[in-house]
Amino acid sequence: MQFSGSIKSKLPGVGTTIFSVMSALANEQQAINLAQGFPDFNCHPALIELVNKAMKAGFNQYAPMPGLMSLREKIALKTERLYGAIYHPEKEITVVPGGTHALYAAISAIVSEGDEVVVLEPCYDSYVPAIELNGGRPVFYEMKYPDYKVDWNEVKKLINFRTRMIVINTPHNPTGSILEAEDMLQLQKILDNTDVVVLSDEVYEHILFDGYQHQSVARFPKLAERSLIVSSFGKTYHTTGWKLGYVLGPEALTKEFRKVHQFMAFSANTPMQHAMAEFLDDASHYLELSAFYQEKRDYFQKLVKASNFKILPCKGSYFQLLNYAKITLERDLDFAVRLTKDYKIASIPTSVFYKMKTDNNVLRFCFAKSNETLEKAAEKLMKL
Ligand SMILES: Cc1ncc(COP(=O)(O)O)c(C=O)c1O
Repeated sequence: MQFSGSIKSKLPGVGTTIFSVMSALANEQQAINLAQGFPDFNCHPALIELVNKAMKAGFNQYAPMPGLMSLREKIALKTERLYGAIYHPEKEITVVPGGTHALYAAISAIVSEGDEVVVLEPCYDSYVPAIELNGGRPVFYEMKYPDYKVDWNEVKKLINFRTRMIVINTPHNPTGSILEAEDMLQLQKILDNTDVVVLSDEVYEHILFDGYQHQSVARFPKLAERSLIVSSFGKTYHTTGWKLGYVLGPEALTKEFRKVHQFMAFSANTPMQHAMAEFLDDASHYLELSAFYQEKRDYFQKLVKASNFKILPCKGSYFQLLNYAKITLERDLDFAVRLTKDYKIASIPTSVFYKMKTDNNVLRFCFAKSNETLEKAAEKLMKL
């Protein structure tokens, strides 16, 4: 079919995301896919039973726009227990079809034409297009390789009367770094006496290693009162394909958030909300997730330790960065493609997470995979 009109693209620089590109290449090449961030193992069977139960019971029509109240109540309980913060289920918690939807709706609700949004790079690829589609201007702070720490005094210099929002992400995709309590206190300090809203992407909140505790902005009352927090059941329960998550925020921010959410999706799917409401009763499923993934991180690191890749620190998330400068100095994108084609292992080049395509010869590998997949992957990496 041929479209004969003319289109002015609103995102002229954006093509298919690198995740789809690398996954397609991995399929085509029958390569091991450590590129896209999803598990290659199934979720808990009880969760599937609960979804079936809800469907059979007839819960197959629209859920309420902000989410099932039973689920919102459970989320409120969980948040209070974990972070000591009280979010009102009626007015301050919204169930959404996934983190990406939540990020877009939040940015759309808060950012207007000409507003500036501080973004810490490298960053998850949906932030910048969402800002630009809403007329905002991303202002970048680069977290420096190799430890990807934030110098908040430098961030402070980027904040002015046009700054409407700052986007943070902990644990961090793609670097596996985390923000600690001291980071949050400094952020709180630099935002004092400003109107800046914090969009806190916490989809990996239950995946932290080596005894680190997740520092949700919810733990810091003065930050929480200016923040929208994004959580994802997909990451926590190995159900990324279900596209389900939630957003926490004070009433005034939630009100604006819902205005947009209701016209983007209206509501998230009903049977899975019923299932999650019941599944949340057993806190062990999310409390034990860190240990589960730490074992995978440690195993993957052990497998590639003797390779020519350099293992970078990973404190959270399910991503391991490997530097390949000892092997080659070709561009990360080229090397990632070559690895997929010639060595049958797919990864993500980290330059795609930067506006200016900063290239530190680093690839991102997802270790949310069965031990067998990790072994096969490591075997290939050892050949380089
Ligand atoms: C940092 C970050 N934020 C948000 C998302 C999206 O979450 P969801 O799968 O719930 O849409 C992802 C998924 O990869 C992510 O890595």
